[in-house]
Amino acid sequence: MLVVIKKTYEEISKEGAKHVAGLIRQKPDCVLGLATGSTPLGLYKELIRMHQKEGLDFSKVVTFNLDEYVNLPPSHEQSYHYFMWKNRFKHVNIDARNLHIPMGMSDDIEQFCHWYEEKIAEYGGIDLQILGIGANGHIAFNEPGSSLGSRTRIKTLTEETCRDNARFFQNEKDVPKYAITMGVGTIMEAKKLLLMASGVGKAEAIRATVEGPVMAKYPATIVQLHQFAIILVDQEAASKLEGDYPGS
Ligand code: F6R
Repeated sequence: MLVVIKKTYEEISKEGAKHVAGLIRQKPDCVLGLATGSTPLGLYKELIRMHQKEGLDFSKVVTFNLDEYVNLPPSHEQSYHYFMWKNRFKHVNIDARNLHIPMGMSDDIEQFCHWYEEKIAEYGGIDLQILGIGANGHIAFNEPGSSLGSRTRIKTLTEETCRDNARFFQNEKDVPKYAITMGVGTIMEAKKLLLMASGVGKAEAIRATVEGPVMAKYPATIVQLHQFAIILVDQEAASKLEGDYPGS
């Protein structure tokens, strides 16, 4: 596990984008695992800039998103489908046929989850998985207590996550209570992980993830066992780390 600390959110966004762009240049038909939420927004913005100014080519890139709320139509402004189109896909030359986002409106969620796993395998697995982290240590929507071997499935969101996400909805009661999420085991099969965090609100989760014991209480701690994981954090998110890590 490589821990990289940069001063600001802008710096981690640029650094993260460099990893993604490097992979796309080296393997134009690479498979990217994508996260939503606030953290990767700067990285996505930088990738869009690279596409527009430097010709970074997404035409053969395949993507799989980590998660989606259940029962929120793709047209809903807070659905992850909407988020991805607004913040990323519509600004780059990506082929819509290569995009995969869990279908929270599916009639048969269990069958959909099997299909999603099979589809990832069909493409030869995820080359690089981008991850954010919840203040409670969740990755994707694998909440504390999630099985560390879990696969794509439906999960009930904790009250803390619903509260955190309430900032995006008009009322807390509108926040969906369930989501489809890639499992911890699914995420761990990606060839490379890029976990990003910014701000003091993530400092405790990052401390546990990097320096704590591996445990289901903090699903993110599993990344310690990955053979190629980069933890890319700004100084605030790194503020509770005790070890010595490369700085900016
Ligand atoms: C979103 C996801 C979540 C977020 C996490 C952090 O696809 O998988 O695990 O990464 O909740 O969210 P932000 O970045 O908004 O703090």
